[in-house]
Amino acid sequence: MTNSSVELKYQNQSLQLPVFEGTEGEKGVDISQLRAKTGLITLDPGFVNTGSCTSGITFIDGDKGILRYRGIPIEVLAERSNFLETSYLLIYGKLPTADELEKFTQRVKRHTMLHEDIKRFYDGFPRDAHPMAILGSVVCSLSVFYQHETGDPAYLAELNRVRLLAKLPTIAAYAYKKSVGQPFIYPDNSRSYCENFLYMMFSTPAERYEVDPDLIDTLNLLLILHADHEQNCSTATVRMVQSSGASMWASITAGICALSGPLHGGANQEVIEMLEQIHADGGNVKKYVDLAKSKESSFRLMGFGHRVYKNFDPRAKIIKTACDKLLKKMKVADPLLDIAKQLEEAALKDSYFIEKKLYPNVDFYSGIIYRAMGIPVNAFTVMFALGRLPGWLAQAKELNEDKATKIGRPRQVYTGPALSDYTPIEKRKA
Ligand code: CMC
Repeated sequence: MTNSSVELKYQNQSLQLPVFEGTEGEKGVDISQLRAKTGLITLDPGFVNTGSCTSGITFIDGDKGILRYRGIPIEVLAERSNFLETSYLLIYGKLPTADELEKFTQRVKRHTMLHEDIKRFYDGFPRDAHPMAILGSVVCSLSVFYQHETGDPAYLAELNRVRLLAKLPTIAAYAYKKSVGQPFIYPDNSRSYCENFLYMMFSTPAERYEVDPDLIDTLNLLLILHADHEQNCSTATVRMVQSSGASMWASITAGICALSGPLHGGANQEVIEMLEQIHADGGNVKKYVDLAKSKESSFRLMGFGHRVYKNFDPRAKIIKTACDKLLKKMKVADPLLDIAKQLEEAALKDSYFIEKKLYPNVDFYSGIIYRAMGIPVNAFTVMFALGRLPGWLAQAKELNEDKATKIGRPRQVYTGPALSDYTPIEKRKA
């Protein structure tokens, strides 16, 4: 808390609202006494000005394009860390020692298999089921395999965090195998986290399969970049569900469902579909930039704009470089990359995008890399979910350990009919 406060004058009352200051100088007005003292609530559609919690996990400065996990810049983690180490950092609040990381890695490895009965769930999904729907359904279903477990709640919470981290890649890879009609590939725990995922996705029992080390490195990078992003839509959803005391399985399922939306994680699929459409339309970039600006059209440049970043998205910068590097190494000439670059150039010069501070976000170039890796377009958002999982787990853990946590329950201002009579059915008018 700072010494400063904000004075609120309402009718004949005056109320001093304390100002809370975070480590990086961000300030928030504490309105927790507002309703009790004045009868007023705040109205903030989309929570554009509302802080739902204090958090020590991720710092973003949207104007300066800064993103840090537990104080460490994303650029540093992208260059020096791997996904499990970054997961540890997010969940436990510090970089692990070599011994801690080894133990954590081994624990995650021990839980990579799914209960055999889970495989039968996949029989019930249509072949073309969206993999995000499968991911959410299977994560939710997993809860019933552990529902009778008893013991120390902290121990069980920790076990479930490890299980979720271990099993999500297996669930995702099985969804892909189902869609292409190939046998499920069991995890191979001699492999690293990212290597194992690619192995379960792309190997078959019929042939030897070596995972390309460049793909493993790129996947580590992509998952790190997606690992947390403070109080975004899916993370806020995870926290909200967790605040009711629901299970971690339920909370993560809710996060997956929230992430699937096209304005959130689903944007990476939409970006590629948009680039494909522009390509099929002769590569007329200007036409689509104009369409995105038109008030008559609901078309938006997918992968552009962000609620918080109003200068640049640091993740997009790193991904663009990684994308160029990987495609060059793989000798892939993807025409969609050229279109994406032309689109970016045209938008960044356009006064509409400049004035509204719309820049490429994390989803703009990630799809092009996923395509080059052989990930099907409808599984792009699943890749985002694999990356975001440690962030969700860290945020849920933080919420559970915070003594100030209450069940999330926003207020509203009612705008429906005033007190009304119940009209008997025979007297009602159409
Ligand atoms: N193309 C064209 N116009 C846009 C775009 C866009 N991509 N994004 C925002 N605008 C315009 C919007 O029409 C509005 O104009 P006006 O003030 O004239 O009504 C103005 O910019 C502000 O937009 P907003 O929707 O009020 O801003 P927001 O902070 O509520 O939304 C956003 C942020 C990311 C949902 C939005 O920029 C968007 O829809 N982008 C495309 C979808 C996308 O790429 N989503 C991924 C986000 S990053 C990863 C993640 O969070 O999962």
